[in-house]
Amino acid sequence: MPKPKPKVFVTRIIPDRGLSLVKDFCDADIWPGELPPPGEVILEKVRGIDGLLCLLTDPVGAEVMDAAGPSLKVISNFAVGVDNIDLPEATRRGIPVGNTPGVLTETTADFAFALLMAATRRVVEGDRFVRAGKWKTWGPTLLLGQDIFGATLGIVGFGRIGRAVAKRAGGFDMRVLYYDPWVTDGPGAGALPAQSVDLDTLLRESDFVSVHTPLTDQTYHLIGADALAKMKPDAILINTARGPVVDPDALYHALKNGQIAAAALDVTEPEPVPADSPLLELDNLVIAPHIASASRATRGKMAQMAAENLIAGLKGERLPYCVNPEVY
Ligand code: GLV
Repeated sequence: MPKPKPKVFVTRIIPDRGLSLVKDFCDADIWPGELPPPGEVILEKVRGIDGLLCLLTDPVGAEVMDAAGPSLKVISNFAVGVDNIDLPEATRRGIPVGNTPGVLTETTADFAFALLMAATRRVVEGDRFVRAGKWKTWGPTLLLGQDIFGATLGIVGFGRIGRAVAKRAGGFDMRVLYYDPWVTDGPGAGALPAQSVDLDTLLRESDFVSVHTPLTDQTYHLIGADALAKMKPDAILINTARGPVVDPDALYHALKNGQIAAAALDVTEPEPVPADSPLLELDNLVIAPHIASASRATRGKMAQMAAENLIAGLKGERLPYCVNPEVY
């Protein structure tokens, strides 16, 4: 009798580059819905599984791990951020957790810049203006924005993605400041023409503030009313990290009252942004639906990495990309 394949639950259909590997190696139960499986469905589906391949939309805490039981050997997240997973709990149980770092760095940095430029040069407002039939003539003061070249960019969180954004800023002759008490001088930090400063200096001096931190207890609402009050009145905030790093109520008031000029968000708190959120009434806000890593190539690579982490864990091998290596 051939050995039965390991049982896994995959919480959404991921690109085939990874899914095909999972299907070949595993007895895979794949959630077919467009929306995430509801919490009670996850609890049901994980019973007795060997591995879980989940998304950033799936909270995975002690309850899910208990429901899976002692057979659970690996949790593989289809994302670089792992704030949806209770890491200390997984570590306590000796379960390795995988993520997908590196492959989405440049794609996400591209998108952070796309948002920066869209908000600053009022691209989305311009599109709405044209479609509403309001474009009557070329206007000397129509939809004026700010210059990007030569401006000061403040990067909060100078890890892989923050540094990739700094590289792009070089092409625009920007002055780059960064604040990062977490990573400090990791590989590559010194190689870039960027200056490490404290958060207050960054907020006070930057024309653009772009957020690139993971979501942790230390970064929750890091950009709140106090931080926004320190920014320049013509400053623009960009968040492609995690929604809760920015306090949405404080941001609404800052945008509404002209405390800062504009913002562009790829991530919100909560996600999706509620249809009746007052944020959606603001013209000086661009919002995208958490798509910074959404290029075909990158999502394919993320799927492959997530599958490789899952399969390594099922084989009892070290995960190629493990966020809690202390389990080994
Ligand atoms: C996306 O937000 C990710 O963490 O990969």
